[in-house]
Amino acid sequence: MAPPGVLNVGLIGLGTVGSQVAARLIERRDALARRSGGELNLCRILVRDPAKPRALEVPPGLITADPDLLLDDPAINVVVEVAGGDEPVRTFLERAIKSGKHVVTANKLVMARHGPSLLELAGEMNVDIHFEAAVGGGIPLISTFRTDLQANDIERIGAIINGTTNYVLGRMATDGIDFQAALAEAQAAGFAEADPTDDIDGHDATYKLAIMASIGFGARVAPEEIYREGIAGIQQVDFRYARELGYEIKLVAIGSRLDGRVEVRVHPALVPGGHPLAQVQGAYNAVFIEGDLVGQVLLVGEGAGGRPTASAVVGDLIDLARSIRRGVQLRSAFSFDPEVTLVPMDDVISRAYFRIRVADRPGVIAAIGTVFAEEQVSISSLIQKDQWVADGTAELVVTTHPASNGALERSRLRMGDLDTVRSVPAFIRIFE
Ligand SMILES: NC(=O)c1ccc[n+]([C@@H]2O[C@H](COP(=O)([O-])OP(=O)(O)OC[C@H]3O[C@@H](n4cnc5c(N)ncnc54)[C@H](OP(=O)(O)O)[C@@H]3O)[C@@H](O)[C@H]2O)c1
Repeated sequence: MAPPGVLNVGLIGLGTVGSQVAARLIERRDALARRSGGELNLCRILVRDPAKPRALEVPPGLITADPDLLLDDPAINVVVEVAGGDEPVRTFLERAIKSGKHVVTANKLVMARHGPSLLELAGEMNVDIHFEAAVGGGIPLISTFRTDLQANDIERIGAIINGTTNYVLGRMATDGIDFQAALAEAQAAGFAEADPTDDIDGHDATYKLAIMASIGFGARVAPEEIYREGIAGIQQVDFRYARELGYEIKLVAIGSRLDGRVEVRVHPALVPGGHPLAQVQGAYNAVFIEGDLVGQVLLVGEGAGGRPTASAVVGDLIDLARSIRRGVQLRSAFSFDPEVTLVPMDDVISRAYFRIRVADRPGVIAAIGTVFAEEQVSISSLIQKDQWVADGTAELVVTTHPASNGALERSRLRMGDLDTVRSVPAFIRIFE
């Protein structure tokens, strides 16, 4: 058992985030003790390879590669997990909870996939799970939903929640470089992982949206149920055309609640230049929330990086220390409304932007107009853009009024089959 007033902390992971968490706990021990009302004593660190050279000097004997030394130690009250990935970490957390330890985690993957079952187990074991850092790094997001906005029915969430894709799209938009070059630059700058698939294909954003939708809408949303498109298909010319129309192109995560149903999707979108999400630059994240009482709320900050993420992790730890001291247990963040169902993507309504490569001859616009009309899609604007005299083609940009995604997709497919249309290189939904 920990001495009275002391909270013994076992840390899993000493990488980018873990080393910042450990540094804070060691270097700011007294200040944190004052804020927590008692000492936060880092007493064990679990890593994969204890022999690895570490930038941070930790007291000898703390580091181990044996999970039992941390998980089976009855003196450890709190497990702070900043290792990442699904297994074996999910099992570590389950073991910790079953042995009565509280958990603080930054693991979006585990919380998106297993959050509800881990929170249920935590409820049974009378312990808490805090996971502020799992979405939006240092941005106070989970606590905003969990406490500050709890009087509201959340109606809409619109977020730029992946820094890598925002950085890449930003470089393409402002500096005219292509996707591969922008991605290589993001990797060199340390924003993008060596394998950036999770970010570029939108998986990372689906994990974070699953967590936000579960908390915001009370809907049981698994990441796999979220409609997802990545950014690899966006071409340089679309940024130019989008700007001419008054939009920026962003990867957005959108959740909204309509008539007891919830819509969840992650895809590139044209965001109106005047919308706050259009202004989010570089690796920053932003979450735009609409609640029925509060109206519109915008949260912006560094969504990743060792220090911002450690800010959220250690903040959770201080919160936890205070509630343990007061003898209160936090209400589960996920409380589901079993009536809430998901809107099928075909039924989702949005405006859209199409870029269509056509034969530069009469009758083309009429043929395209007929397809849209037959699919009940109303055209908002149609502009002829570039023209290639050599091969007799031209590019049309069409924006539509709101229509169902099913009708927009069918229009795209049918236009591709017209003999006057060479290809439909871009179909991007418009965020409003
Ligand atoms: N980095 C960010 O900006 C950021 C932002 C928000 C959230 N997060 C989340 O924070 C977590 C950590 O990210 P990170 O960037 O700090 O990762 P990282 O730099 O790769 O560090 C991972 C650490 O965990 C240890 N580890 C991994 N698997 C382990 C296992 N099976 N058993 C024991 N130790 C294990 C590693 O040990 P070794 O050192 O021995 O290899 C390493 O110390 C992830 O869930 C991530 O999604 C990160």
